Amino acid sequence: MMSGKRILLGVTGGIAAYKAVDVLRRLREQNAEVRVVMTRNAARFVTPLTFAALSGMPVLTDEFAEGEWGSMGHIAVTDGLDLALVAPATANIIGKMAAGIADDTLSTALMAAACPVIVAPAMNDRMYRNAILQKNIAYLRTAGIRFVDPDTGALACGTNGQGRLASLESILQAVVDACSPKSLAGINVLVTAGPTREPIDAVRFISNPSTGKMGYALAAAARDRGATVLLVSGPTQLVPPQGVDLIAVTTAAEMDRAVKEHAGRCKVIIMAAAVSDFRPLETSDRKIKKSSAPLQLALEPTTDILKGLGDAKEGRILVGFAAETDALVLNAREKLVRKNLDLIIANDIDAPDSGFAADTNRATMIDRTGSVDELPCMTKAEMAVRIIDKVIELKKNQGL
Ligand code: CTP
Repeated sequence: MMSGKRILLGVTGGIAAYKAVDVLRRLREQNAEVRVVMTRNAARFVTPLTFAALSGMPVLTDEFAEGEWGSMGHIAVTDGLDLALVAPATANIIGKMAAGIADDTLSTALMAAACPVIVAPAMNDRMYRNAILQKNIAYLRTAGIRFVDPDTGALACGTNGQGRLASLESILQAVVDACSPKSLAGINVLVTAGPTREPIDAVRFISNPSTGKMGYALAAAARDRGATVLLVSGPTQLVPPQGVDLIAVTTAAEMDRAVKEHAGRCKVIIMAAAVSDFRPLETSDRKIKKSSAPLQLALEPTTDILKGLGDAKEGRILVGFAAETDALVLNAREKLVRKNLDLIIANDIDAPDSGFAADTNRATMIDRTGSVDELPCMTKAEMAVRIIDKVIELKKNQGL
C-alpha cells in the first residue's frame, strides 16, 4: 500500500522526537520514500544524522543552508508529496499552522504542501488541555487536517494524563488510511477468518491450525479502501482491526448462520476461514471419560458455506481459499468452478513460509477467466492488499 508513496515526516522539538525514528523505520519498511524535515529544536533531541541514515535522504533543518534540497529546499521537499505527517507535533507548530505562520523550514514546507496532512501531537497534559491549543486543533480539523490524538498515560514530565504521542500503530494506520484510494467506499464486504471448532464433548473438539491472520489482514485491507467490513471469525488470539464489525463464532454451523444472515447486503464475500469439513455426528455436553470413549468417532460433513453462496450467487464477488498439498493450480481451479467463485487463492500449505500460522504467505490467485497471478512470498498484510486490488478490478469488470 505504501510502496513508492512520498511522505514528508515533520519532526518537532519534544521528548517524543525519538519515537519519530520508529515511524520512519516502519514507513521505510513499507518502501515509502520519506523526506524528513526537522525544526531546530527537534535536532536538539535527536540528530538529523539518524533520520538521514534511516531515510537515505538529506534531512532539511535550515531554510537558509543551501543543501542537497537546493536553495528552495522548503518548496522542493514538498514536490509530488502524497502526504505530510507531523509526529511529534508540539503546541508551537500546531499554533503556527493554525495562524498561518511560516517562519522556519517545517512551517514553510507545511504551508507549501499540497497534500493531506496528519498531525500527531505530543506534550504535557496541561498544555494539551490549553483552550487556545484546543481551539487551534478544532480549527485545523475544519481545514481538513487530520489528527491522531495523543494517548493517556505517564508523561515525560513525571505526571499522568493525555499527551503521550499516539501509538506507532495508530499513527501508521492514519498514514495508510490517508494514502489509500477509497475504491470500496459505500461497499459492504464480509470476510470470514480463523478456524472453526467442532465439539466432541465438553472439553474436546476438532479444529485446525488456522490463526486467522490472513482473514484479519483482508478485513483491514478492505477497510483501508473505504469498505464497511463485517468480520465473521472463528476462535483466534487476534485483536480485530479497528473500525471493523466483528461477529465471533465457534462452529461451522454458527459461521454458516452468521454468513447467511448478512450475505444479502454484501457485494463482496471473502471466505478466508478454515472451516472444518467434518463434525462429530454426536457430541456430549459432559466430558467423556477415557474408559467410556468410543474407539471410533463418527463424523458428518458440515455445510459448505462457500458452495451455498456460489449456488445462489447474484451480483456479488465471491472469493474462496484453497489449502492444498498436491496439484495446487489444478485442484484450486476445480474448486473455483465447483463453488462458482470469481477468485480463488491457492495456498501451498507444505511450504514453510506460507499457510497456517505463518506471518508470510505465498499463493496463486486464479480468476474465472483463467488468469493466474503468482504471489511470491510476502507478508499477509501485503498479500491482503494484492487480493483486495484484484477484487476491485473484478468488481469493476463486472460492472458491480
Ligand atoms: N469452505 C466453506 N465451508 C466449508 C468448508 C470450506 O465455506 N464447510 C470454504 C473455505 O472457507 C475456503 C474454501 O471453502 O474458502 C475451500 O475450502 P477447502 O476445505 O480447502 O476445500 P474443499 O472444497 O472442502 O475441498 P477439500 O477439503 O477436498 O480440498
